[in-house]
Amino acid sequence: MRHVCLILLALLVTAPSRAQTVGFAQVGSESSWRTAFSADMKGEASRRGLHLLFADADNDVERQRAAVRGFIAKHVDAIVLAPVIVSGWTEPLQEAQAAGIPVFIVDRQVDADPSLFVARVAADFNLEGRLAGAWLAQATRGTCGIVELQGTAGSGPAIQRHKGFLAAISQFPSMRILHSANGEFTRDGGRRAMVGLMEVTHGLQGVCAVWSHNDDMLIGAIAAMQEAGLSPGRDILTVSVDGVPDIFRAMLAGTANMSVELKSDIGRYVFDVVQAYLAGKRDGPKWVVIPSHLHIAADAPAMLARHTD
Ligand code: AHR
Repeated sequence: MRHVCLILLALLVTAPSRAQTVGFAQVGSESSWRTAFSADMKGEASRRGLHLLFADADNDVERQRAAVRGFIAKHVDAIVLAPVIVSGWTEPLQEAQAAGIPVFIVDRQVDADPSLFVARVAADFNLEGRLAGAWLAQATRGTCGIVELQGTAGSGPAIQRHKGFLAAISQFPSMRILHSANGEFTRDGGRRAMVGLMEVTHGLQGVCAVWSHNDDMLIGAIAAMQEAGLSPGRDILTVSVDGVPDIFRAMLAGTANMSVELKSDIGRYVFDVVQAYLAGKRDGPKWVVIPSHLHIAADAPAMLARHTD
């Protein structure tokens, strides 16, 4: 009998512990920033031995809510949510809480009671907008007519980048957003939106800059402007957010002027917070802020050297 007990004890001690399962409800793959972020999350989860369930919502909020409910039904250990839009999250978050599953918000934000999630790991989108507006103000000495390419309506970055940019340029009476158009954070969307903006402004007459809520829309818009015989980066200044490799290539080509970097390699911050919570830590910050830095053409070689793609 003693022999059997010893064997059981040995089995218990040596049995591998169950890998923790994390459900990640991702927005989609609309931009190169998003694709890099997904790859980083998958790589980081695997390095840590976590079992990651990955759900791509393809920018469809209903699909994303269903994915979160699917994670709850599977009794995952934690849910990481990068919400497509800010609204409509109270009920799914309440359901997760009732099931005892902690939720971590990443990248974008939700318009829900903060007691419904553990923490948010994200950059400050409003600051990104303010940095872009302030850079443009100094580059144009406070005089500029601007067209704006907006990201997905109702999403945290579209709302906050617009607000932050407006707050910065409102200090300068001769700076104004003349027209805005939605490009859905995609290259094709940015190109289409820019074609429309060139129509309403008769070839960007009176426009001194394009402010884009992300790099991919701007890259599409740059192509549209060049096809129309304009010189983006020279006659029309361009400012955007993300800092993806292609925007630095555009800077080197002289067609883009400035981008505020949104770090995509944030899986390590996200899983640090998730794993600390699952290990019992309860005193972490509610918002882990990812720093934002502004980059111009002079930074492009160094920024490109950081990327291998
Ligand atoms: O939520 C972050 C934004 O979403 C990125 O700036 C954009 O590229 C992505 O689609």
